[in-house]
Amino acid sequence: MIHKIKRAIRQSSSTCFFQIVTTIRITDKELLGKIGEISGGTMRLAQAPELWLFCLDFTKLLRTTDLKLPIPFDLFFAGINDTSICCQSALVAAESQGLSCVIVGGIKRSLSELCALLNLPQGVAPVVGLCLGYGDPEFFEQQKPRMPESWTFMENTYQDNFNEVELDSYNQEMFDYYVSRKTNNKGQTWSEAAQEMLAKQPKVSALIELYKKQGISFE
Ligand SMILES: Cc1cc2nc3c(=O)[nH]c(=O)nc-3n(C[C@H](O)[C@H](O)[C@H](O)COP(=O)(O)O)c2cc1C
Repeated sequence: MIHKIKRAIRQSSSTCFFQIVTTIRITDKELLGKIGEISGGTMRLAQAPELWLFCLDFTKLLRTTDLKLPIPFDLFFAGINDTSICCQSALVAAESQGLSCVIVGGIKRSLSELCALLNLPQGVAPVVGLCLGYGDPEFFEQQKPRMPESWTFMENTYQDNFNEVELDSYNQEMFDYYVSRKTNNKGQTWSEAAQEMLAKQPKVSALIELYKKQGISFE
């Protein structure tokens, strides 16, 4: 299983074939516990069987081409795309073999501590994590309902199909989902939940400063 997931990651598309993604597989329980702690504590990271961290990694390019630190923003952007593609490739490979996954962006909450914990040099920075393992059927939920398809799929030109009638209906559907799900249930519509999450978002400038420390330029 692990071999197939690794292969899916390693054969993922790569911007300009730069191959700027490194995956760090966290299997050490103590380390996992520490990462869980610095990532906010509320996440159940520490209980995950393992966590795969997808990092942008320019060290190979820095040593083989005339690329110099700090890494230009466009390459950082390419790295964000590539790490996300690798993460989703891993998720599909894992879930197609019967495993369960959770993508974790919260690992960026304490980026400096995480970089120190993993000895990440300049030119390397974590972007996203993936918890994976055998899911406990006791906690399996119904699939989370998505927005109306006509809001998010268009053809040839932008079509703004958003409307209040469908919004009310979607909010009701999400309310029913949130209220009845087995864990972390709450009496909220999608709009309310989104608003609450927005209020909790860390300031973007904080993330920029943290990535700058790893050698990324935002000029
Ligand atoms: C980039 C990214 C970061 C995410 N970070 C977190 C996270 O930190 N914690 C978490 O519980 N879920 C996280 N998720 C999972 C989403 O909340 C989840 O995919 C969404 O609620 C839809 O649920 P579903 O994937 O079960 O359909 C993340 C998803 C993405 C794509």
